[in-house]
Amino acid sequence: MRYVVTGGAGFIGSHLAEALADEGHSVVIVDDFSTGKTENLRWAEGLDRVTVCEGSITDLPLLREACAGADGVFHEAAIASVPKSVADPVGSNAVNVDGTLNVLVAARDAGVRKVVLASSAANYGDNPNLPLKETEEPRPQSPYAAQKMMGEFYARLFSDLYGLETTCLRYFNVYGPRQDPSSPYSGVISIFINRIAAGVPITVYGDGTQTRDFIYVGDVVRANIRAMASHYCGVLNVAGGEETSLNKLAKVIMECTGNVCDIRYDAPREGDIHRSLADTGKLEVTIGRVAECSLADGLSQTIEWS
Ligand code: UD1
Repeated sequence: MRYVVTGGAGFIGSHLAEALADEGHSVVIVDDFSTGKTENLRWAEGLDRVTVCEGSITDLPLLREACAGADGVFHEAAIASVPKSVADPVGSNAVNVDGTLNVLVAARDAGVRKVVLASSAANYGDNPNLPLKETEEPRPQSPYAAQKMMGEFYARLFSDLYGLETTCLRYFNVYGPRQDPSSPYSGVISIFINRIAAGVPITVYGDGTQTRDFIYVGDVVRANIRAMASHYCGVLNVAGGEETSLNKLAKVIMECTGNVCDIRYDAPREGDIHRSLADTGKLEVTIGRVAECSLADGLSQTIEWS
């Protein structure tokens, strides 16, 4: 098969491209390398089956070229930062909404069977009805979340209007190798691993009882590949289905690294959600259980990479 992976040089997209190439598929990566990195594309196996189209998803002709002859598209490209979307709602909208619309149009016109789109748990905002089911009311609290919701609306429309199969995967807190730890808005796991490994104190915003539903990037890749194989059109949570507190997370990382470091407790981050937990029932019924990697195993693999 021939697959397009937008954002294929990024954290999740590069793992997905690697897995597809490893399975013997040909892969076309579309990436503008704004946050994607060439280092993410240095794997041993299957690289000869990968073509890189350097450019943005705001470039419709480029997407048309990439989609020619493709069987499926995995749409991972985005400005995946809530703070950036708050600072520049128009700029992030151009990529996250207009870019997504371009991907759907290019796929439709190329006769692609299916598009699997990266969506976000951010869409639920502070909805307190845990565990969160896909039918819960979305409460976007940032331009980023509103843009991801718009992507879901367009995906649904393209299925209804044009018969293009689409599945939107609402990622919860994804972690693993290749996640950039360098920004203050990076995922907490990449920040903690980096600091604990260096023996530098970590900062917990709040009292550390806040929880997140973490999922290893390899399990997210599995969800994408299974969603592509299915004919299901709609929205699915992609999460481990387990709540882990920040205090527990810090303890497990220290156990895995064998390093102990100080924990500093600071004021809670503005707009922080206290608890997050997905209901993964629909995911499991639709494409089977995807979360196979335990937190300890996923952390060990991430630590090994870092
Ligand atoms: C994620 C997004 C965030 C968005 C939110 C909306 C990422 C990396 N962040 O945040 O931009 O607003 O979804 O749903 O995808 N923490 C610490 N110390 C640190 C870093 C983080 O205590 O050094 C805490 C945070 O305050 C938070 C938890 O760890 O309580 C998780 O943080 P993070 O990894 O940023 O994820 P989300 O808060 O879920």
